[in-house]
Amino acid sequence: MIIFNSAQQLKIYLDNVKDQHYIVGFVPTMGALHRGHISLINAAKIQSDIVVCSIFVNPTQFNDLNDLQNYPRTFEADCKLLETAHCDILFIPEVSELYTFEELELKKEKIEDKSWTEGKTVDFGSLVEVMEGAHRPGHFNGVAQVVSKFFRIVEPNKAFFGQKDFQQLAVIRKMVKQLNMPIEIFACPIIRESNGLAMSSRNERLSAEERNLASIISKTLFEVKELQTTKTIVELKSFAEDQLKAEPKIELEYFEISDADSLQPITDYNQAATAVACVALKLGNVRLIDNIVLY
Ligand code: PAJ
Repeated sequence: MIIFNSAQQLKIYLDNVKDQHYIVGFVPTMGALHRGHISLINAAKIQSDIVVCSIFVNPTQFNDLNDLQNYPRTFEADCKLLETAHCDILFIPEVSELYTFEELELKKEKIEDKSWTEGKTVDFGSLVEVMEGAHRPGHFNGVAQVVSKFFRIVEPNKAFFGQKDFQQLAVIRKMVKQLNMPIEIFACPIIRESNGLAMSSRNERLSAEERNLASIISKTLFEVKELQTTKTIVELKSFAEDQLKAEPKIELEYFEISDADSLQPITDYNQAATAVACVALKLGNVRLIDNIVLY
């Protein structure tokens, strides 16, 4: 695996690769890698000739400075996992390599600012007014900002994202469409721990007891999927909310059943061709999200 810190060096290397008509697959991450991330590398390996992974804890997508500072950084272990998965290239830039001082200042002052695409703004519309977008103001702006920077540097043919971050996937698809980026976006299934807990870098911050307790999240989602044959959407939502709120250590942020395309909440099965149940909650001081496609 070749490691690059410099965007320019990476670009020179990749230009050469593209001259040979190799298909470049890209997997952006924030590190603290686990089997969920590696499943994306595996999918990319199957679909591409050269796989590029990035590790970058992106400051503009965090609303909480504490969360940014406490985000796990495990570079050595990450490299080992990527080597084992036969990742070809790791791009691990410094903040100053990707952002100007002004961009970072702008984020501090005005998190909702949309001027990041050099005049080409993306209108995410109602997609970012719900769920994660509603609870983490400016978060998706930061995600789109950094992913668009990576896309311009790597210029991949294909990019791979996890369904774990269902709304993020929708935001990236919309960005690629609106900016006419010639990149094919692939969605990869959620990888779970043996107790059902969706794998996440943040799970490392849970105590053993909290990790056990967290299995109630996926258990509830699986139950909701099963109960859809016998309950209405409204009943399903209150069933899930009651079950999660009954656990005193859980602080529920939202449980929504939504149209899987528009991500707008639905109250009846016939309001969506495909529906997804999404949940966000705090366990201790760790924020966890999960989802399941219902139909
Ligand atoms: P990060 O949380 O590191 O996730 C990187 C990718 O791994 C995302 O596409 C995410 O959906 C996927 N992923 C995480 N856990 C997963 C799991 N249990 N199963 C399957 N896929 C999983 O998402 C980000 O980083 C950032 O927002 C990023 C896109 C890199 C932009 O900064």
